[in-house]
Amino acid sequence: MKYSKILGTGSYLPQNRVSNDDLAQRIDTSDEWITTRTGIKARHIASDNEKTSDLATAAARQAIEAAAISADEIDLIIVATTTPDMQFPSTATMVQQKLGISGCPAFDVQAVCAGFMYALATANAYIQSGMATKALVIGADIFSRILNWEDRGTCVLFGDGAGAVVLGASDDVGIISSRLHADGHYLDLLKVPAQMIDGQICGSPFVEMDGQGVFKFAVKQLAAVAQEVLEMADYTADQVDWMIPHQANRRIIESTAKHLGLSMDKVILTVAEHANTSAASIPLALDAGVRDGRIQRGQILLLEGIGGGFAWGAVLIQY
Ligand code: ACO
Repeated sequence: MKYSKILGTGSYLPQNRVSNDDLAQRIDTSDEWITTRTGIKARHIASDNEKTSDLATAAARQAIEAAAISADEIDLIIVATTTPDMQFPSTATMVQQKLGISGCPAFDVQAVCAGFMYALATANAYIQSGMATKALVIGADIFSRILNWEDRGTCVLFGDGAGAVVLGASDDVGIISSRLHADGHYLDLLKVPAQMIDGQICGSPFVEMDGQGVFKFAVKQLAAVAQEVLEMADYTADQVDWMIPHQANRRIIESTAKHLGLSMDKVILTVAEHANTSAASIPLALDAGVRDGRIQRGQILLLEGIGGGFAWGAVLIQY
């Protein structure tokens, strides 16, 4: 049986760091309100001339270097994003072009904050079926462009960034199990309603969210799907070395860890410095843990995320 092994990870954050205090100078909020409710202290915001594909390519270059391969060995590119450079073509094809390669399949997946789980599980299926041998899987988003900066209930929560992994076909265990879910009945909890009609944008182009509804749904489903990937592989939570959750909110993460009986010492937390970077948050946290040496080869990693749709999923990995 072929496994997908993480060969290398990478990430990119825009230079401009905006603290809660910076935000409080512009809108009616405070560091105390944001910190106690979310654990967020700061976020990075892309400059006007940075595109999602630029962030994605920077993260990809790091992952390719860490994997010690050359870009032209990549035979699949999947980008998870909700904020593509353009309506079409896909951001993945733009990353491909920026990496100076061509020919391999490249496409985007759109599952909002669960996007990286969807992209990783899809790339794993390509590798296991023999359709790919070295897959570049990226989560990249510039949520700052789809935020209403007058809406303090949403704009304080998000940031911009990108994270990437190179997955390679391997005889050694890599991805152990994965599970994806979606339920379109929860559309109204979180959405950007805008659509183009007759050349006009109809509906709000900004994030609309029922914060408490999201909170309740996320807490319930994340614990359940994390448990599912463990049970599928006959693992128990005490075998997990690191949980690497979607970084939306510290309280949601604490609740999932508690449900699983995992100590917060086993959780990679980046939400304080990154805020919610949507599809980028899990690979950004993964790369942070790898680069600071906490995550070591052979360890068991539990990745989980949830986002608009609702869509959610988890992946269990031997790193
Ligand atoms: N600063 C100060 N006050 C604020 C702010 C702000 N940034 N935002 C809202 N408030 C005020 C509200 O106006 C309200 O005031 P009122 O009582 O005078 O009407 C008060 O704070 C309470 O508002 P609530 O919305 O009830 O606050 P709540 O305790 O539910 O916290 C929050 C809101 C942080 C959004 C919480 O519901 C949450 O974390 N939900 C999860 C949302 C999430 O993570 N979304 C990310 C996308 S989905 C995903 O990635 C999983």
